[in-house]
Amino acid sequence: MARFIIDGGHRLNGSIRVHGSKNAALPILAAVVMAQGETVIKDVPRLDDVFVMLEILRSLGAKVAFHKNEVVIDPTFIHTTDVPEDLMKLMRSSIFLMGPLLARFQSVKISKPGGCTIGSRPIDFHLKGLRMLGAEIIERHGYIECRAERLQGGSIFLDFPSVGATENLLMASVLAEGETLIGNAAREPEIRDLAAFLNQLGARIEGAGEDTIVVHGVPKLQSTEFRVQPDRIVAGTLLIASAMTRGHVEIQNVRPTDLTAVIMKLQETGVQVKPNHDILEVRSQGMLKAVERLQTSPFPGFPTDLQAPFMSLLTVAKGTSIISETIFEDRFKHVSELQRMGASIKVDLRTAFIRGIPELTGAAVEATDLRAGAALVIAGLGAEGRTILDHVYHIDRGYEAMELQLRSLGAKILRVQDSLERLEAQAE
Ligand code: EPZ
Repeated sequence: MARFIIDGGHRLNGSIRVHGSKNAALPILAAVVMAQGETVIKDVPRLDDVFVMLEILRSLGAKVAFHKNEVVIDPTFIHTTDVPEDLMKLMRSSIFLMGPLLARFQSVKISKPGGCTIGSRPIDFHLKGLRMLGAEIIERHGYIECRAERLQGGSIFLDFPSVGATENLLMASVLAEGETLIGNAAREPEIRDLAAFLNQLGARIEGAGEDTIVVHGVPKLQSTEFRVQPDRIVAGTLLIASAMTRGHVEIQNVRPTDLTAVIMKLQETGVQVKPNHDILEVRSQGMLKAVERLQTSPFPGFPTDLQAPFMSLLTVAKGTSIISETIFEDRFKHVSELQRMGASIKVDLRTAFIRGIPELTGAAVEATDLRAGAALVIAGLGAEGRTILDHVYHIDRGYEAMELQLRSLGAKILRVQDSLERLEAQAE
């Protein structure tokens, strides 16, 4: 398994461009199955989750090409709607294929997605919404089979503003008969991006980004060319990493309004963040201040995906900070790893109490999930001495060549393949 070797204490300086958003690209790539002919998607990040999604589309019969950050997909020759179990197991976001395949091909079969290290992550809101659109859903032997002659528009009210359920139901409704209303919808920027893409294909969606979305069903969609929005979580991660090293960085290709909650919290710690169109300038000097309360919540609140990275910063902020994780039930796995680096953190269910210490100390730690891995990289950048971070494959799911990006800003970070991987690479 590849690992990172990080020598802390080096300030990040310079400028960096943020790549396209993983969480916008994944539903958009799934939605392409509803288009007619070749569709081009630009600024798609080269991430393991994206490669898996494209592999699934190929396995269904779509023609797929991925050069640099541009994907060209032609779904014309899709001949099955059974999502391969082995690929499904690699990435739970394959559930985004349910809405589009059902809408275009009237059927879809997936294996029940497992939970992951941050929680059980059920999909009951997705299934309840699809049933309200007229889908017949059978769950048996670990599979979920859906059918619908033609989905019928209807009124859906989500029990929770789930991002994935909003996206799946949005995609299912664009080809449904009549009008669909999605109440208590998620308002994340990725929803707006997906709706913009679908409207470019010829869908008729109003209110995306608000808590009520109205969709007027259309008989078919055409093809288009679309650029994915910047990844706000990668941008936030770079902001926090720069602050951790007391650096001065210009982050390009950002939508500052997607990061208001994060910028406000960083400014509370004393970090200077200056938005300027699609650039964020971040500068941090001297002691950081603790933040009394940080609570993750649906957009526009503080994003759960930046809770772990921000906690790394707070481990060396003067005073005691309190973080409440309200979105996922098990998203504190990074705490024990930060404690190995000397952090003083106490956890009580979904609340963490972080007492700032002067400096973390490098140690051997491991990434338990994507954002916990990012948090440990940030901790290593600010720590005294060397940090060895194992299982960096988690990080490759959401950050394109993270170590190269950080090295270009002056970080001392190296990716080391283990001997078996080196031998395999040489054998190829
Ligand atoms: C999306 O996951 C993101 N993933 C997550 O990012 C992100 O953390 C999350 O939204 C919240 O912002 C992608 O977009 C690919 P939810 P999703 O449905 O859609 C519960 C990352 O690091 N729930 O909003 O799965 C669920 O268990 C990833 O990039 C149900 O109970 O999130 C969770 O507790 C991690 N039933 C809460 O709702 C359902 O049917 C929020 O989940 C669906 C969700």
